[in-house]
Amino acid sequence: MLLHLLFSLSLVLTFIENGNAGITSAFVRTQWPSVDIPLANEVFAVPKGYNAPQQVHITQGDYDGKAVIISWITPDEPGSSQVRYGLSEGKYDFTAEGTVTNYTFYNYKSGYIHQCLVTGLQYDTKYYYEIGKGDSARKFWFETPPEVDPDASYKFGIIGDLGQTYNSLSTLQHYMQSGAKSVLFVGDLSYADRYEYNDVGVRWDTWGRFVEQSAAYQPWIWSAGNHEIEFFPNMGEVVPFKSFLYRYPTPYQASRSSNPLWYAIRRASAHIIVLSSYSPFVKYTPQWHWLKQELKNVNREKTPWLIVLMHVPIYNSNEAHFMEGESMRSVFERWFIKHRVDVIFAGHVHAYERSYRISNIHYNVSGGDAYPVPDKTAPIYITVGDGGNQEGLASRFRDPQPDYSAFREASYGHSTLEIKNRTHAFYHWNRNDDGNKVTTDSFTLHNQYWGSARRRRKLNKNHLHSVISERPSIARF
Ligand SMILES: [Fe+2]
Repeated sequence: MLLHLLFSLSLVLTFIENGNAGITSAFVRTQWPSVDIPLANEVFAVPKGYNAPQQVHITQGDYDGKAVIISWITPDEPGSSQVRYGLSEGKYDFTAEGTVTNYTFYNYKSGYIHQCLVTGLQYDTKYYYEIGKGDSARKFWFETPPEVDPDASYKFGIIGDLGQTYNSLSTLQHYMQSGAKSVLFVGDLSYADRYEYNDVGVRWDTWGRFVEQSAAYQPWIWSAGNHEIEFFPNMGEVVPFKSFLYRYPTPYQASRSSNPLWYAIRRASAHIIVLSSYSPFVKYTPQWHWLKQELKNVNREKTPWLIVLMHVPIYNSNEAHFMEGESMRSVFERWFIKHRVDVIFAGHVHAYERSYRISNIHYNVSGGDAYPVPDKTAPIYITVGDGGNQEGLASRFRDPQPDYSAFREASYGHSTLEIKNRTHAFYHWNRNDDGNKVTTDSFTLHNQYWGSARRRRKLNKNHLHSVISERPSIARF
């Protein structure tokens, strides 16, 4: 308690010292070493029974939330790709048939990967489902979101760079206590690519079993990071994102994307756009064309909250990966401003950071402003690459803290975004804090569209008043 008081006091003093400058928190988590949990640990336990389904996870299966894609792996033989589901436990009135596939990666051979699209679901409903055969069958459930509606409330979690260490486990357990209904995952899943010489591919399977405790029961919305690229010519593996694309399907066709790595969904009152930091995005590329169109498809009257996910942060003041997001900023930032994006979540940097609303769209290589400036129409940029993977924390922030950085701290955690209605959402970043979930950075997010619409209406009203009051003087001319 005393430590917390001292810590809060130091934050206040820092703030007073720096005036309006951002806060660099001195808290650094050090309890557990950044090593992967041993393969034999119970968090990676293989479910009992011959060919029992494992690594079960779901994601949204369509544009509006009335479908899910259920995925799982059977280790011994292809088995069945059928999902039996219904509205009460043990009573499965419906079935859906999926597909099965597998792949090799260097000397690793995957299990049999099943994917089943379940469509025609009712909104706001709990479904129970069963997969697998006989004694090896396994049962789970999930809840569909409320119908797409401007005032639908919904709580998202945001996790990035998770990996499979004891810190990752702490993040996952804390997230599962948050009451959030769906994870926006900002890339770098298993860190299996760190195993080039031993246990090749194996850590994809352990990670799948690790996250099943959450991902089998609620959709995780996937975006890809650099650890998903797995470009290893020395091993004869030259197809980028191979394991990720086999294992983690996305509903990209529902948003007319040509590639699973970038796509959009609508869920409750949010329109979520997933971008790929490691796919071409400059002018005229498929991702550029797609985003241009998708931003036009956003209807803020239906989905007031416009959220963008990407792996590499555009505004980052950590020494780690500094300026890596600059190329995407130079291409897309103008659009983010124009379309009044509410918030952009990224990972990649193993620390937490939040920006003020700022933009740098006036910069050009021939001159002009080369520094971000306050901009009420800009999104807030949040980096949550602090899931807890084996590479450890990025603890060296640039000094002095740039004006655009509002809060930054090098410790592990996750965020939640609780949308209340079309105008307000509550945001929290929760530091794991050596075993206890601690809310460290929180604020009320005001919607960029409905906030500005209100401002616009007010402006119009004032303008009308001024026109009316100015009429006599206009008449004089
Ligand atoms: Fe990364």
